[in-house]
Amino acid sequence: MNLLLLGSGGREHAIAWKLAKSPRCSKLFIAPGNAGTSECGTNVNISPTDFDAIKKFCSQENIEMVIVGPEEPLVMGIVDSFREDSNVNHIPVVGPSKDGARLEGSKAFAKSFMVRHNIPTAGYREFDNTNYQEGIPYLQNHPIPIVLKADGLAAGKGVVICHSYVEAMSEYELMIQQSKFGEASKKVVIEEFLDGIEMSVFVLTDGDSHIVLPPAKDYKRIKDGDKGPNTGGMGAVSPVPFADEEFMKKVNERIILPTVNGLKKDKIDYTGVIFIGIIKVREDPFVIEYNCRLGDPETEVVIPRLKTDLVELFLATANRKLSTIKLEEDLRVACTVMAVSAGYPATYEKGFPISGLDFKVPGTMIFHAGTIEKEGEVVTNGGRVFCVTAFGESVDEAVSSAVDVMGEIEFDGMFYRKDIGWEFR
Ligand code: AMP
Ligand code: GLY
Repeated sequence: MNLLLLGSGGREHAIAWKLAKSPRCSKLFIAPGNAGTSECGTNVNISPTDFDAIKKFCSQENIEMVIVGPEEPLVMGIVDSFREDSNVNHIPVVGPSKDGARLEGSKAFAKSFMVRHNIPTAGYREFDNTNYQEGIPYLQNHPIPIVLKADGLAAGKGVVICHSYVEAMSEYELMIQQSKFGEASKKVVIEEFLDGIEMSVFVLTDGDSHIVLPPAKDYKRIKDGDKGPNTGGMGAVSPVPFADEEFMKKVNERIILPTVNGLKKDKIDYTGVIFIGIIKVREDPFVIEYNCRLGDPETEVVIPRLKTDLVELFLATANRKLSTIKLEEDLRVACTVMAVSAGYPATYEKGFPISGLDFKVPGTMIFHAGTIEKEGEVVTNGGRVFCVTAFGESVDEAVSSAVDVMGEIEFDGMFYRKDIGWEFR
């Protein structure tokens, strides 16, 4: 099969690496990809949100399936755009319709979905310009900390946890009145703070049946000890030690099944990944957020743990045949450690040459994120630059191997956490 994968991060390199291993993959194209994905297939210089150019490319190259990495094209309706176009409506696109992608594209929609289907989540209310004044006493009477969320997509920055009323008031005004996150924060969800430990669960659904992929935990803060500002993710581990059989039974009964059934009841067309951000409060799971795609860097540990052919898995998703798939997993622990540019998650420079990327150790893999090839050299091209994934018999062993490999790779200003998986070591 000829495949087109959209995106350019570490997640897409991990997906491309696995797709390329499949005997069913004839040609793999990645748009736009990075220096790492070009080793798995052919990079194509098309933006994942340029639907016209993507469709034209699909017709020219006889693409037989499109896999969407990031959320933006899904929230913008790439699946609907293919379906409504007779030139390409025979090509399956793995991902939810625009309607389904609202689980990530609108926090207010996701919250009302959870309430409607009785899925445990933090209590909340939504505010915009029409009920702005009501929000002020609501905030003043709300226990601290208060979580404010921009309704729409805000490049992972739209959630602010406020530890004082002054901060909460100011954020509230900034988001709604001053459009701090543009259109995305014209509406705001104010919700209770949940105190617990987080994990990510990925459910693949064909709209009928579903499969739960191995769970993972990501590490969002920039510094060791979970300190400093939030990032896109500095590392991840899979499996998650506290997600034992008893806990996962609760997750399944209280969250996964009601979510999948809720989509059906609401007649929402969804053939793709439901990413459920879960927080364990005492012994009980609550949903922190939904996303409509795989997580990054969780994918860099989840995909290597899959023994099942990924082309088969995505094809079964697109063709409503997931019930025929039996998922096989590598039982070892996988961890990934992300190398980032100096200054990230704030401003950073690009264009620094990276040395040591060809360093190979059995049981470890290097996935590129923000990299690009320039004049025969791989240079930095983003905040998150690359990650090292390693297997081990324990979290400690896996993380130590990844950190060892990191030590062999270098670029100007490179930084990474050495304590990924710290609670489990
Ligand atoms: P998001 O940008 O939606 O991924 O959220 C960023 C992070 O904010 C989450 O991973 C949580 O750590 C935190 N967060 C979001 N909602 C809550 C909540 N209700 N209680 C506690 N932490 C939260
Ligand atoms: N690692 C979290 C995310 O992909 O949103």
